[in-house]
Formats: sequence, C-alpha cells, structure tokens
Amino acid sequence: MLRLLLLCACLGALEAAAVEVHETSKSTGGNSSPISLLLENSKANGIQMFIGNVAVGTPPQVMSAVFDTQHALSYFPSIKCEDPGCKMRKRYDSSISSTYKEDGTPFTLPGQNISGFLSTDSLHVAGNTVASQTFGEGTSDNNTFDQMTRNDGTLGLGFGNDTLLTMVNQGLIPEQVFGLWLGRDPQGGELSLGAVNKDLYSGEMTWANIVNSAASWTVMADSIALDGHPEAALCPDGCSVIMASTTPYFMVSLERAKAISDILGGNSGCQTRPASTSWTAHTLSGLPTMQIKIGGRMMEMTPQQYTFVLTFGGQQLCASGFFGLPALTDQWLFGTLFMQQFYTAYDVENGRVGFADSV
Ligand SMILES: *[C@@H]1O[C@H](CO)[C@@H](O)[C@H](O)[C@H]1NC(C)=O
Ligand SMILES: *[C@@H]1O[C@H](CO)[C@@H](O)[C@H](O)[C@H]1NC(C)=O
Ligand SMILES: *[C@@H]1O[C@H](CO)[C@@H](O)[C@H](O)[C@H]1NC(C)=O
Repeated sequence: MLRLLLLCACLGALEAAAVEVHETSKSTGGNSSPISLLLENSKANGIQMFIGNVAVGTPPQVMSAVFDTQHALSYFPSIKCEDPGCKMRKRYDSSISSTYKEDGTPFTLPGQNISGFLSTDSLHVAGNTVASQTFGEGTSDNNTFDQMTRNDGTLGLGFGNDTLLTMVNQGLIPEQVFGLWLGRDPQGGELSLGAVNKDLYSGEMTWANIVNSAASWTVMADSIALDGHPEAALCPDGCSVIMASTTPYFMVSLERAKAISDILGGNSGCQTRPASTSWTAHTLSGLPTMQIKIGGRMMEMTPQQYTFVLTFGGQQLCASGFFGLPALTDQWLFGTLFMQQFYTAYDVENGRVGFADSV
C-alpha cells in the first residue's frame, strides 16, 4: 500500500513538473544524489514485467517503460507508427514538444521486428530532467511479444555510454551505477540510479567483472547446476551469463532446455490443476535446487523460485522458468525470476555486476 501511494505521489510530481521543465532543471555540480524510481510488478497475459513511468518531451508525455539491461538505446513508439504493436500503446509525438531535436538516423532493434529513426528530447525520470537524450522513435513495430505486454517503451540500461552517462554529465546522479531490486510477488520493485540502495539487500555484495563491452552486462558463471544432476552439464567449464531484465525467464540453448526438462520430469511435479487448489511447496517437492556460482558466491534457488504459476481459464498452470532459444549456444540469460531473489547492481566505470541477497 505504501508503495502504491509513493508511486502516485511520483506521478503527481511528474505532471506538476510539466509547467516548469527547463533544459537545465538541475545545475551540474558535486551535490547530485541517487534517483529512486518505483516499479510496478505487472502480469499481463501471463508475462511478468516490472514497469515504471518516465516521460519524454516538453511538456512531458508520460510513458510506461521496462528497464532493459540488455540494450543501451531507449525506445518509444512514435505517433507516426500505425502498426498494431504501436497503436495499442502511448505514442511519442515530437510535434508537440518544445525540446524536440531532429536526428533522423535510422535504427532497428535486431531480432525484435522494430525499426524507426533516432530522435533527441528531454527525458524525465522520477522528477529529474535529462536534457537532450537520444532514443529510438519506433515507426514500425511487428514484435509479437509487444502486443501482449503493457509497457509503452523501454529505457535502455545496457552497458554503454547512453542515459547513465548523460545523467552523470548533467549532474543528475553521482556516478554511472544503478541497482535493481525486483520484489517477490506481488511486491513491486525499485530502480536506483547513481548508487545501489543498501536498504534493499542484506549482507555483502559480490562483484563479478563483465566479460565484454558490447552493450550487454555479461559475466562468467563459475558453474550452474541442478543439485544432484551433474550429467546435465549445464555449465561445464564456466559459461557466460547475460543479465536480461526484460525477460521473466532463464533462457538457454535448446539442448540445455531439453536436458533441464528431462530432469524436471517434463514438469511432472508441476502440472495443471484447478485454480481453487492452492499451490504448495509440497507439490514441487522432489525437484532439485538450482545452484548458481558467480564470482565465487553460491546462490541457490528453490523449485518454487525457478518455476511460476499462471492462472488461465480457471486453471492454475505451473510452468518451468527455463526456455530454449535457438540463438543461444553456451550463454545463459538471467531474467526477472533470478532478479526477484537477488539484488543486482551495475557499475559502468569498473565494468562489473554485483549480486546480493534481496530483502
Ligand atoms: C512490419 O510489417 C510490415 C507489413 O508486413 C512491413 O512492411 C514492415 O517492414 C515490418 N517492419 C518491421 C520493422 O519488421
Ligand atoms: C518477427 O516477425 C517474424 C515474421 O513475422 C516472426 O516469425 C517472429 O516471431 C517475430 N519476432 C518477434 C520477436 O516479434
Ligand atoms: C557513445 O555515444 C555516441 C552517441 O550516441 C555514439 O556515437 C558513440 O559510438 C558511443 N561510443 C561508445 C564507445 O559506445
């Protein structure tokens, strides 16, 4: 309840800011402090996403966004886009923004069926104004997934020099660091920009250096296993893990997805049942614990944590959180199922990702 009230307060502040947004609403200097944005835990069509409100332009056009650790470029659908994927969401209209600057460079989001051109405008995050932020204005969107989710756009937090750097350069946040707390259901979440939020994790943070700089937060896992099943070789000689905040799942190669499914007994402990039956720990007993070791730290997830329950047509469907993607070979993608158990932190200057126990 408190979170909801706070969220409403933030939205109020955003709208109130409409009349007094200036290009330099906050002066540069050493007195900037971290920015906290509350996120809503949204489940639309069975797809879980953590969504927060940002705004683009002057006066601010409020858009709901997911926060994307995989891509540096932010994306908002354009009023010029007539595809179904755009028309069902809020669309950015540059013609009514006094701070719009034309760019026009074409962009595509590879594999997403989204394209358009770059535009520059003010971006408002939790009452702070980021001046002259370049983002993708989508003029075509045939993304099938997009038509099932509730967010309008994405805010790019991929490893790179985009929004975080702009915010540091404009004195809005102290450093290029952010922390992501995604609460356990049905709690919301918090994006902390400029510092990690120590109130939202317990114990020490373990840092792991990133292994490339191609706009993604990728670290090496020492091992990933389902306890008692070494035969599955889920991560035999270490494997790379890409932090992927816009997917709910663990994404793996098709081969690994099959090995995991074999161990979980094709979901035998995890079958369809009437919605009136409460889902208990007992139902999933017998399934192994997942063990993830990164930076020497062992992180464990129970079957309740790596599966999820969908309610569909009066039935509860328990589903495995592991999905196979043809494009993957050795890599894993860690999505929000993982992040709901572990607070993650992202440090651009030191090139590292932090892991800690969520509160
Ligand atoms: C979306 O679909 C339309 C109609 O098939 C096509 O013309 C357009 O190129 C597609 N756009 C993208 C980005 O895939
Ligand atoms: C992109 O479009 C193709 C062809 O219509 C479709 O098969 C594919 O699933 C789409 N991918 C996404 C991510 O929307
Ligand atoms: C930084 O951002 C600028 C403007 O978006 C881009 O042209 C440049 O390639 C980026 N540099 C790096 C190292 O990513």
